[in-house]
Amino acid sequence: MTKKLLVCSNLRANPNNPSCAARGSKEILIELTRQLQKKNVSIKVEEIQCMGFCKVGPNVRLIPNGEFFHEVSSKKLPNIIKATKIFLQE
Ligand code: FES
Repeated sequence: MTKKLLVCSNLRANPNNPSCAARGSKEILIELTRQLQKKNVSIKVEEIQCMGFCKVGPNVRLIPNGEFFHEVSSKKLPNIIKATKIFLQE
């Protein structure tokens, strides 16, 4: 199975129903892609519609069987990039 980085970009307009995009996941997706390219980390980044952890979004996950990141903000991107590099070497 190809290794990928999944970013949930699901948007629910109703503020009573949490969603990753309402918490900034589209911006995270753009920034993460940009930083991965800049650091020459080659992994397919894919948007996904909901991983079932909407209350703790934005959610990002390395697949298959990789780390799962919750409440992702730009502050967490260096950690995600580091984990991605290690994941690609496994
Ligand atoms: S909306 Fe992102 S996990 Fe459900």
